[in-house]
Amino acid sequence: MCGIVGYIGGGSAGAKRIVTDGLKRLEYRGYDSAGIALAVNGRLVVEKAVGRIANLEEILKASPVDSHAGIGHTRWATHGAPSQANAHPHTNADGSIAIVHNGIIENYAELKERLIAEHGVSFRSETDSEIAAHLIGLFYKGDLLAAVREAVREMRGAYSICAMAAAEPDRIVAVRKDAPLIAGIGENCNFLASDIPALLKHARMIYLIENNETVLVTRNDITIFNERMEAVKRDVFHVTWDADAAEKGGYDHFMRKEIFEQPAGIAETLNRRLDEKGEIKLDGISLTKEDLDRIDRIYIVACGTASHAGLVGKFAIERFARIPTETDIASEFRYREPYIDDRTLFVCISQSGETLDTLAALREAKSRGARVLSVVNVVGSSVARESDDVFYTWAGPEIAVASTKAFTTQLVCMYLLALYMGRTRGVLSDAEYARVLSELSQMPDKLTALLEDEPKIRDIAKKVYKNENIFFIGRGSDVSVALEGSLKLKEISYIHSFAIAAGELKHGTIALIEQGSLVIVLASQDRLFEKLLSNIEEVKARGAYVIGLAKAGNREIEKRSDEVIYIPACADEVTPILAVVPLQLLAYHVAKLRGCDIDKPKNLAKAVTVE
Ligand code: G6P
Repeated sequence: MCGIVGYIGGGSAGAKRIVTDGLKRLEYRGYDSAGIALAVNGRLVVEKAVGRIANLEEILKASPVDSHAGIGHTRWATHGAPSQANAHPHTNADGSIAIVHNGIIENYAELKERLIAEHGVSFRSETDSEIAAHLIGLFYKGDLLAAVREAVREMRGAYSICAMAAAEPDRIVAVRKDAPLIAGIGENCNFLASDIPALLKHARMIYLIENNETVLVTRNDITIFNERMEAVKRDVFHVTWDADAAEKGGYDHFMRKEIFEQPAGIAETLNRRLDEKGEIKLDGISLTKEDLDRIDRIYIVACGTASHAGLVGKFAIERFARIPTETDIASEFRYREPYIDDRTLFVCISQSGETLDTLAALREAKSRGARVLSVVNVVGSSVARESDDVFYTWAGPEIAVASTKAFTTQLVCMYLLALYMGRTRGVLSDAEYARVLSELSQMPDKLTALLEDEPKIRDIAKKVYKNENIFFIGRGSDVSVALEGSLKLKEISYIHSFAIAAGELKHGTIALIEQGSLVIVLASQDRLFEKLLSNIEEVKARGAYVIGLAKAGNREIEKRSDEVIYIPACADEVTPILAVVPLQLLAYHVAKLRGCDIDKPKNLAKAVTVE
């Protein structure tokens, strides 16, 4: 995700190094370009580079300028591909105002039109952020604080913005709404940042800026204002974490942090695709009735965790949109002479957008005439660039090798796509569409509640972590969740685990069930619960220790299982979003108890760019 650093000190130098050092501390969050603005002799010098911060440093090394004040940014592309023009800082027309921005200005298109029509502004980037520079520039009458306040009154969305004016080199102004912002107290200097790690080298006393607050930072003072522009008093927060812990936001591991980021990621993925009336909008993706009438088959292709999201996608598309849908793993698909033509919609799912097999499958499908729609987390990645349409997940950068928040946001995309297609084709009633959409919109809150059960999952982990063989069974969409739960466990705890459709057990795998075998039964599907009960009996009769996972309110599961994990009640169709989360936590705690390297498991890579 994007990162912000601001610094203001004394003398005439230092900002260049301090700001870039701060940006480096944010590298772990993922970024594709970086930039800096420095106040130098009454003007603002802006330098930007695509790629690593080292590229920016090269440019800065070659330039003699330095300053006592500067703002810097690492960008993780959202609006517009990773490029020098789209990198921050952005400036107004005459370069007298520079800003860096995290978050999204939702009404940017409308503001952009207005700025062009009424003020003849010409834009240099594809970003929503550039709006902020122009707006502040238009309102600027010698007081940056006032101009920033006026500008944010026009903006809707979630953002933190940090601004400098060439005419006021001794002030930096920042504002926060729903995107993190902190101010740090240094020695004869002060700081601004989006995250604590950026400041830790220089400041351990910080102010946490709250929503709708504006902060004015000078070398000697930090003043925080509320929405009415009254100065507010804030207690200083003393940071005691070391740099490593700070990067993880106080969590032990990125994986656990990312598990807990799921409610926010899902909310963001939903918000991006729902209009003001709560209807699904697929801006930028062409799936009209005519487009859909031309499609007679869908292939969903991916690798690893993303392929499990594809299985749920198949359920959703066939259920809501009534289009025959096949799923495959990319490494197989690309070599199997798939039956594809120009009536095929090829959907590929990828967190990184760089997985070689997925990319090769995409190219294969394209060469056979299919239209390609990808579900991708990393903006501007190879898969995104080579697809006809992209449906982005808004999980934010995923750092742990074991995928968690990318998976649940991929699920949300697949549901939205299926509902949209069903409605547009006229095969899904308005009532059904509204019912499932309402279920989806409750997911962030239900997930937040579910995450509070972590202590219970930790207790179960303590009982089972010494097992060397774990089975996962389920029916319907629970099979996909079983596969994903099993994958999580083997990836990070190195326990052998096996997932299978419960009804298929009796055709072979049940031969392995013996006294003490651990079987995790996914029983979230009310519709299939009775069928599943006989599968539970089959494994119990052979001495299995059963952990059941079901919806709250299902008392029957308690009678049949040794341990029960409940997920909040919800419609059968959307349970995978909730049901996978206890399994992610179980894998995490089991791996921790086994002393494994959770974020970087052996033999695995985050993005697999080899065949
Ligand atoms: C690797 C990662 C997995 C991921 C898979 C597909 O194996 O370790 O976590 O699910 O690649 O990656 P993608 O980026 O295409 O989703």
